[in-house]
Amino acid sequence: MKRSFDRLCQSLLITSVRLKNRITMAPLFTGYANQDGTVSDLMLKHYHEVAAGGAAMIVVANASVDPRGTLASHNLRVDHDRFIHGLSRLARTIKSVGAVAVLQINHGGRFARSEDQIAPSVVSMSSISYGGFYKSALKSLNFQQQMEVLSETLQHRSQRCREMTRKDIRQTHQAYATAAARAQTAGFNMVEIHGATGYLPVQFLSSRTNRRTDGYGGDLANRMRFALELVQAVRQKVGDKFPVGYRFLTDEWLPNGFHLEEAQEFARHLANRNIAYLSITAGTYESFFNPDIIMKTQQPAYMADLARKIKKVVTVPVICTGKILSPSIAENILRKKQADLIGLARPLFTDPQWPTKAFNGKQESILKCQDCQICMQMVLADRPVICSQWDKIKLVKRKMHIKSMNRQQNKILLVMDGSDNAALGAAYAGKILAHRKNVSITLLHIQTDDAPTSVREINRMMDVTRSLLINAGLPADAIEIEVRKKTIGIARDILTAITEGRYGTVVIGRRGLSRAQQFLFGSVSHKVVQNAKNCTVWVVD
Ligand SMILES: Cc1cc2nc3c(=O)[nH]c(=O)nc-3n(C[C@H](O)[C@H](O)[C@H](O)COP(=O)(O)O)c2cc1C
Repeated sequence: MKRSFDRLCQSLLITSVRLKNRITMAPLFTGYANQDGTVSDLMLKHYHEVAAGGAAMIVVANASVDPRGTLASHNLRVDHDRFIHGLSRLARTIKSVGAVAVLQINHGGRFARSEDQIAPSVVSMSSISYGGFYKSALKSLNFQQQMEVLSETLQHRSQRCREMTRKDIRQTHQAYATAAARAQTAGFNMVEIHGATGYLPVQFLSSRTNRRTDGYGGDLANRMRFALELVQAVRQKVGDKFPVGYRFLTDEWLPNGFHLEEAQEFARHLANRNIAYLSITAGTYESFFNPDIIMKTQQPAYMADLARKIKKVVTVPVICTGKILSPSIAENILRKKQADLIGLARPLFTDPQWPTKAFNGKQESILKCQDCQICMQMVLADRPVICSQWDKIKLVKRKMHIKSMNRQQNKILLVMDGSDNAALGAAYAGKILAHRKNVSITLLHIQTDDAPTSVREINRMMDVTRSLLINAGLPADAIEIEVRKKTIGIARDILTAITEGRYGTVVIGRRGLSRAQQFLFGSVSHKVVQNAKNCTVWVVD
């Protein structure tokens, strides 16, 4: 039977940005970014597919504002200007099919994978109960995957954070603000501050994780201060007109945790600070795996009532997410005024055509998320996310794409040793790569003590090569410079750089060694050709 979804079709103005209907993609971390945090082709493909399915607004999940706050090995990053180039392509891709592009920005705090892990207070996670779900989730993984998950978890539990100083707090505010400005420069229509799932802003809000005795801890007014100053810092950088949304935690669902009444108070403060919307969530990594919470989150539209309770106290648009599997459930939420917008994370990941099918009376053919938790397991195992409901062809294609992502042909390492052949290599690379899309080039010099090159000479060599590549048509922000000190041997150091940076192509000049020298010492380029794995090596003679 064909049903029309009047409310779902209605457009909505969020500050100055018009949404063509009420369906938004809630952020869903995929692990599809390149390992260096840049936007990959797979990300472009994934977000294009979802945006083309008819949702009005797409929130790109979880871009890290600070290397200290990064959560996963394939985490999107926005902590440096060099990421703007790829992010611009991503924003353009989403907008090209008529959707509004939003970048979610995040700092993981005590959940981050970092040598210098910072948090409001040092609080161990040893009290977490993972309960039955965690065990049953592990059952479906193979042994190696289980070990990966467990060791990660144990690592998280045992990791000791450093309590943030006032300086850390100021720097982190600035990191969020600068990241938001980069998103704006890249062409995103809005940014969304990730204030949920137990990440840094929540760690300050909750009295369980915030034990500070200074002006950032204690009563709610003090615990809200980090987040409110953060919003202000972002606002100062992006200006009054640029919409800033907030991923909002309504309840930690933990004994003595941050709870609804506190959330309502916090929501009022955010709304007074010109927040564009509040996107509702509940629970954190410390409560998600509790069996009672799992039961709760298996109910359809399990966060609708929480959305209503927040909507009651603010006038800004509220997005309701959480197992909204069918257009009828979504329409009902809007009719009952529980929320202004619908957020779909897993439902759109399973079937990006959800909105188009709903609007064309084909809701019966929507492929439904079965709550199998494979996607969440993949996130926990730090692996790129897939959906068990996709048809075989999509699944195979996606897996192939993920595999090839690890071989990034467009990520190029140019070894610079000051020789004529290295310069020639750069000139060839410039000519060949100028018309390739999305290339990134690193100019690498290994500094040796036996033949020291002065910093001035290195800089000059790098500047000349950089200009040569830019003149050949490569974008300036696609070129990076790296100088490493020789450790074991030049060839070994180059091979280490190749592995660490996951380069797909290496360009190296053959040094003018005599045959006798080559025989005695072996040439660096020869060793690189012999030993480089998973990449193509161009040797320039
Ligand atoms: C695999 C996975 C990744 C997620 N990643 C994020 C994220 O990066 N940022 C965020 O705010 N929420 C994230 N979420 C939470 C979702 O946005 C959403 O709130 C939750 O999945 C419930 O909505 P759904 O039933 O529509 O999926 C993630 C959820 C899943 C399952």
